[in-house]
Amino acid sequence: MATAPPSTYSAVTLNINGEKHTLTVDHRTTLLDALRERLDMTGTKKGCDQGQCGACTVLLDKRRAVACLQLAVAAEGREITTIEGVAEGDQLHAVQQAFLDLDGYQCGYCTPGQICSAVAVIEEHAAGWPSAVTDDVRPEAGPPPLTPDEIRERMSGNLCRCGAYVSIVQAVARAAEADAAARADRAEQGTEHEGAAA
Ligand code: FES
Ligand code: FES
Repeated sequence: MATAPPSTYSAVTLNINGEKHTLTVDHRTTLLDALRERLDMTGTKKGCDQGQCGACTVLLDKRRAVACLQLAVAAEGREITTIEGVAEGDQLHAVQQAFLDLDGYQCGYCTPGQICSAVAVIEEHAAGWPSAVTDDVRPEAGPPPLTPDEIRERMSGNLCRCGAYVSIVQAVARAAEADAAARADRAEQGTEHEGAAA
């Protein structure tokens, strides 16, 4: 009797925005398709489906990732944050608020990816990560000023077919300022370390 071919399906448990979702997926299912087609989480957008446009950007363990190039089975055990999980309840994230206040979008299709990316950009910058346009990359130089050039470079993986780049850069700059002020407040109150570890 011929042996059955190995199954190409597995049950995975995905930790998305703090909630666990268990589903059975074909091993070839991308995280993007699992989110959109299986879990009805359509905030994460599909643009190119080949890692070129950034529309599907989510956070994996707080780092940016394009969900169209991640297999859902490989995302098990990771902390996945999508645009649906960026706000704190009814309180918009500073990046979301800045995009609203400064019209950082036109049609809005790229916006969830832009916002997820910007959230991580601000964290990366605050942690002192240089970018390809940072002049002085010595650790002792500290984080470079988050100039428009720095923002453009750090956000360059997120394309906007409407060309809303001018206001996107302004929105990221404003959110970064708000984040820096909040960090300074926490440092003054001696809670920055606890906040960073949380
Ligand atoms: S849809 Fe994933 S990068 Fe374009
Ligand atoms: S706002 Fe339309 S694609 Fe960016």
